[in-house]
Amino acid sequence: MTPDAVPLGGPRFQTEPARLYREMRRDHGAVTPVVLDGDVPAWLVVGYRELHQVTGDPVLFSRDSDLWNQWDMIPDDWPLLPMIGRKQPSILYTVGERHRERAGMISDALEAIDPFELRGHAERFADELIDGLCTAGEADLIGQYAMLLPVRVLARLYGFSDEDGPGLVTALNDMIDGRERAIAGQTHLATSMAQLLADRKADPADDVVSRMLQDKSGFTDEEMMNDLMVMMAAGHQPTADWIGNSLRLMLTDSRFAASLFGGRNSVAEAMNEVLWEDTPSQNIAGRWASRDTQLGGRRIRAGDLLILGLQGANSDPQVRTDASALTGGNNAHFSFGHGEHRCPFPAQEVAEVVARTGIEVVLDRLPDIDLAVPADSLTRRPSPWLRGLTALPVRFTPVPAL
Ligand code: HEM
Repeated sequence: MTPDAVPLGGPRFQTEPARLYREMRRDHGAVTPVVLDGDVPAWLVVGYRELHQVTGDPVLFSRDSDLWNQWDMIPDDWPLLPMIGRKQPSILYTVGERHRERAGMISDALEAIDPFELRGHAERFADELIDGLCTAGEADLIGQYAMLLPVRVLARLYGFSDEDGPGLVTALNDMIDGRERAIAGQTHLATSMAQLLADRKADPADDVVSRMLQDKSGFTDEEMMNDLMVMMAAGHQPTADWIGNSLRLMLTDSRFAASLFGGRNSVAEAMNEVLWEDTPSQNIAGRWASRDTQLGGRRIRAGDLLILGLQGANSDPQVRTDASALTGGNNAHFSFGHGEHRCPFPAQEVAEVVARTGIEVVLDRLPDIDLAVPADSLTRRPSPWLRGLTALPVRFTPVPAL
């Protein structure tokens, strides 16, 4: 292990990640040695150009976690195992031609979603959630709103009925929470997915799961189940955080405050700025070197783990010569990844519509909304991976439900 390796965890990822990534770059360069829980070594790629190299070469920097040279060090109860899994038959760890077929199946199934229907579902569920809180005059827009919305919309698009929705919301949030109800949540999700697959095999409909089943590439039920879990979990949490981080920006930054009363452009601007400066997807694990190589002046050994430092790369001064020049309409950030394993384009579009609709409905329905606590008291979850608020307390003039 490199003696000056930086722990990938701790309060600074929560409180001041921008300064932390700056210091990493200053002290270690574009490819920083880090240690994960249990003193497990890895590299964090925080240089824009270097991250481009890693994500653009899926053969040299593979998604195949079996290549890892640290598996002997990893105990069965290692806390990061759910994220850096071994032999998980999901799209995340599939490589080569099989991955291309699988990504194609998922992209095609998502691409066929009717945009008007998508917007309609997102508005309906968002309005339902606002109806549940609008008469109170105060609310937590994370726990009562952002964490409940994307999963409802995704469940409906994938093929679940509206009655299944609330149970799936609880199960997925329990699973993500990672505490005592996590396993029960995962079991409920898995059972519900298996049932949906069986139902749609017998009786196809116009939904994402039916379209995936029609795919000719011959994926097993287990593969389909795993992909559906990824599409649910990888879709829900970052989209919820995108809503939360964008609302926070709009409620705390005077550049946006003035346009809360109906300014549509500013919603898109706030959302894009969040993807550059305060992205939900801070760091993602990862890629494994398939042979010894060099990267950013470092010697990388075959089997080394490289973690994608998406936020670090987004703020790399080599590309951000003028702090504001790359925000606005520019979407050359890394927040959706890059290369063959990036977030599928139709998934990005679904996320964008759900997040934008979710934000617009809040602003339409609660026009005088304001923070209920000082901005500097807002806290983030203690995680170096996905960045999101623990709560967003707001107040507003009570209005009747629709
Ligand atoms: C409807 C919402 C979404 C769905 C259904 C979805 C689905 C997926 C899927 C299936 C993958 C795996 C692709 C592969 O391995 O080939 C993926 C990757 C990824 N997603 Fe998404 N996603 C959603 C929203 C988001 C959002 C909002 C963000 C961040 C702001 C995000 C960031 C990423 C990143 C960075 C990767 C690449 C991981 C890597 O390169 O290893 N996704 N997404």
